[in-house]
Amino acid sequence: MKQFNNSITVSAPGKLMLFGEHAVVYGRPCIVIAVDQRIRAKVELLDTPVFQLDAPDVKVTNYKKPMADLGNGEIPKGAKFVEMAIKKFFNRHPERSRTIRHRAHGQGVKVTTASEFSSKFGFGSSSAATVCTIYALTELTGAKLDKKDIFDLSYKTVLNVQKKGSGFDVAAAIYGGTLYFVTGGKKIISLPVNHLPIIIGYSGIKFDTVRLINQVAEKAKKYPKLIDNIYSSIGKLVEQARQAILKSDYVYLGKLMNINEGYLAALGVEGKKLADMIYAARKAGAYGAKLSGAGMGDCMVAVTPKHKTQAVKNGITSAGGEVIDVKTQAEGIRIEPD
Ligand code: MEV
Repeated sequence: MKQFNNSITVSAPGKLMLFGEHAVVYGRPCIVIAVDQRIRAKVELLDTPVFQLDAPDVKVTNYKKPMADLGNGEIPKGAKFVEMAIKKFFNRHPERSRTIRHRAHGQGVKVTTASEFSSKFGFGSSSAATVCTIYALTELTGAKLDKKDIFDLSYKTVLNVQKKGSGFDVAAAIYGGTLYFVTGGKKIISLPVNHLPIIIGYSGIKFDTVRLINQVAEKAKKYPKLIDNIYSSIGKLVEQARQAILKSDYVYLGKLMNINEGYLAALGVEGKKLADMIYAARKAGAYGAKLSGAGMGDCMVAVTPKHKTQAVKNGITSAGGEVIDVKTQAEGIRIEPD
């Protein structure tokens, strides 16, 4: 019989949206890359029916409650995703919690998370923590979940907490690499990419993703046809970006980025600071540049010829941005040594 451990440490990468944000919430595709700034989670099964969480990166320390109360009462923002992930896992797999009891492995769960990146960058730390929790419980209890099952359960958890979102960040945390992704995981296709010559700039501005999704939805209510046409055009552009990536045609990829940025500006999410950084990157010689994510703040991304790398970095900095050096095409969810 397979021996199960009481504790496991896992990690998942952050993500960066390359093409297709906002439109992907409404049935269109996007392209996302995983970045090698990881969230680690140590998950332990306890003898007592208690949930414990330490997540200092999101200001949660020594948070405790009975397992029976998961999801109830006032939950600190930083604890919501992990708490709901545990609840959803055992709701879906009650037999696993019985199995744990029968094996006298305990009935509680302790989670300790640590992040290699600040949640301020918008690299998707909440989704990565959700994915880590569900993956760790799968491994600890022997539940037979494949990557798509882990995606479905994690995505349900994220939707339960924040109500909106396409799930692209959940997919990036699980699968890693570069993904062509359609809303809700209807398609999750790994693209064979080793390297993309991109530079990432952080604006220093924080904006709430759900608020921006709602803002765009309001616009779509006012101008339904126009906005739906924009989503469809972004969808078509994503198909071309997929081909350009596969052919390593970075000149064309840059042009597509600029067009995508134009559509995002039309949706009203460009923001002055991001626009300054984007225009500075283009002026300094990038093939193209656009915002990455929900917009108004967080990050921008530029495709850049090698010999212009430093100039583009300088351009971003002189526009008030911070260049973030991260490796892309990071590995998806994995088990770590304790
Ligand atoms: C946010 O990073 C990207 C959005 O498309 C939301 C989502 O896809 O969940 C705006």
